[in-house]
Amino acid sequence: MRIGLLTGGGDCPGLNGVLRAVVRRGVRTHGHEFVGFRHGWAGFTDDNTVDLTIDSTSGILPRGGTILGTSRTNPYKDGADGTAVIRAALERNGVDALIPIGGEDTLGVAARLAADGVPVVGVPKTIDNDLDGTDYTFGFDTAVQIATDAIDRLHTTAESHNRVLVVEVMGRHAGWIACHAGMAGGADAILVPERPFDLDEVCDHLRARHARGRSFSIVVASEGARPAQGSITTREGGVDEFGHVRLGGIAAWLENEIEARTGFETRMVVLGHVQRGGTPTAYDRVLATRYGVEAVDALTRGESGVMVALRGTEILTIPLEEALAAPKLLDPELFATAAVFFG
Ligand code: F6P
Repeated sequence: MRIGLLTGGGDCPGLNGVLRAVVRRGVRTHGHEFVGFRHGWAGFTDDNTVDLTIDSTSGILPRGGTILGTSRTNPYKDGADGTAVIRAALERNGVDALIPIGGEDTLGVAARLAADGVPVVGVPKTIDNDLDGTDYTFGFDTAVQIATDAIDRLHTTAESHNRVLVVEVMGRHAGWIACHAGMAGGADAILVPERPFDLDEVCDHLRARHARGRSFSIVVASEGARPAQGSITTREGGVDEFGHVRLGGIAAWLENEIEARTGFETRMVVLGHVQRGGTPTAYDRVLATRYGVEAVDALTRGESGVMVALRGTEILTIPLEEALAAPKLLDPELFATAAVFFG
């Protein structure tokens, strides 16, 4: 078989590990050939391709980002016949089947292609960990580790200056990064998209700490967190080709509001794309490798319209529809455990 590979959506530590694993397994065990489409679905329109071999994918396991490049290109944008465009590119390049690596948008395109008869096995990717049907996506562990390291560092400066530090982390629909990093970093309040927050309650937590003699606090907020009452002014603006608004600004809003309401000096930090950059953790390298091996094995077995997934400690395949029906939201029990340590 000649198999096409692409990475789509936001980049994520571990993408190169998947590419390396697919190619190594596919060439050595199954005798396949591989072609990479550059910059996500954009590579199909302009035939921007590169042959992927054991040599060209060697040494990339510890590297962040993606050697193929990525984009948020939507081949079905404005009613376009994306399937025809992609099929034509597959024919021109003699490609029989595809392994797209991406989140809800990239895998949504994969599901449409599979329904139209293109053999496809997807690999789930998002640092947000909000894809359903799999316990974890690679990149999440790295993002949590980076955010936790940042919170540890912010602790010492917050303590030295008697300040409240608000840390904004990624998490569009789900607060997995905020909750895990907040728990690991000992946050005094964690704000997530799933639970609109009451700012009075947050300020009460901070006042209670100060009343007990603690002179500093750490608040971790997902970029998608919003107050239960009223609206806030954030930096939201513009949408990508899949219709997602660009988030940001919650930490700046909280910085002003917390300082105004409590009188405690407050500073904010937006971790942003730092969470997506650099080398993947060992956990993410192993998960990416296991996903890559299973994806090419599943395609070779004749599976299509599926995604590789982690359930417990097992790697398996599940229908793409199962993963795409709704985002995987934060487990309320996990949040309740984190909340034991608020204030
Ligand atoms: O979907 C993953 C994610 O990291 C979100 O948490 C965030 O909202 C978004 O990507 C940012 O995307 P971009 O790289 O386009 O700014």
